[in-house]
Amino acid sequence: MVFLNGKFLPIEQAMVPVLDRGFIFGDGVYELIPVYSRAPFRMEDHLARLERSLAAVRIKNPYTREKWREIILQLVAQQPSKDQAVYFQVTRGVAKRDHAFPAGVEPTVFVMANPLVNPPRELVEKGGSAVTAVDNRWLRCDIKSISLIGNCLLRQVSADAGAQETILFRDGKLTEASASNVFVVKRGVLLSPPKSNLILPGITYDVVTEIAQAGKIPLEFRDIAEAEVRSADEVWVTSSSKEILAIVTLDGKPVADGRPGPLFKRAFRLYQEFKAKVMRKEAVSV
Ligand SMILES: Cc1ncc(COP(=O)(O)O)c(C=O)c1O
Repeated sequence: MVFLNGKFLPIEQAMVPVLDRGFIFGDGVYELIPVYSRAPFRMEDHLARLERSLAAVRIKNPYTREKWREIILQLVAQQPSKDQAVYFQVTRGVAKRDHAFPAGVEPTVFVMANPLVNPPRELVEKGGSAVTAVDNRWLRCDIKSISLIGNCLLRQVSADAGAQETILFRDGKLTEASASNVFVVKRGVLLSPPKSNLILPGITYDVVTEIAQAGKIPLEFRDIAEAEVRSADEVWVTSSSKEILAIVTLDGKPVADGRPGPLFKRAFRLYQEFKAKVMRKEAVSV
């Protein structure tokens, strides 16, 4: 079952008119929440980011926070798998094609839940590979927009190379990756670019920040030059579905000794512990 505009229905029956501005212009925003043992992880943070994205693109939020929670939990309860990825998007709605916003149109709301696919154990243990590219996306990468053609083109560069991610540089500085945030380790210090209009403020980025603080791992948010990434001791990518993944090959060259580093191993373990602890708490309150 999926949710479309107020109704739960089988996905085959979920239809959107061709004049939906999501279809015509990519005019909408989205979220993806990982769900472990039927408990959505960091749901409030994801809902807060959705509210920010909607406000940034001036789409009316169709539901209260409470209503969003209710829809998500109802959908999660209906799925066979315990671990899920809840995807939801809101578009500006259906209107005659015209760039300017239509008046009096209701947003289109679509929510679906699929089995959660985290990186397989072998990939976590051995580490993944990435290639690099120039970040040629727009200047509002902080909005979780459904217009993802820039990200898709960049992700395909790594897909074509058989790699897991494309790490991006704008004006010679690290921004993020095509579908994740990036952290690097230099001489025992964890580094990541500060939040700005050039990166998506990842929920996992915040979780890693909290983990680093709790685990007394030195952490600094600052501009990171391309050369610093290439000579890093460790490179990680983070996202709701990838969690934390070590990148051990960059543009075909090994990162340090080409194996997941000690800080990655620690952060990965802390992330799993953190998740288990939070989920026990959230499971009680759901
Ligand atoms: C471009 C981009 N950056 C960062 C992220 C990570 O965000 P989160 O940790 O909230 O999943 C994503 C997730 O899809 C993304 O698409």
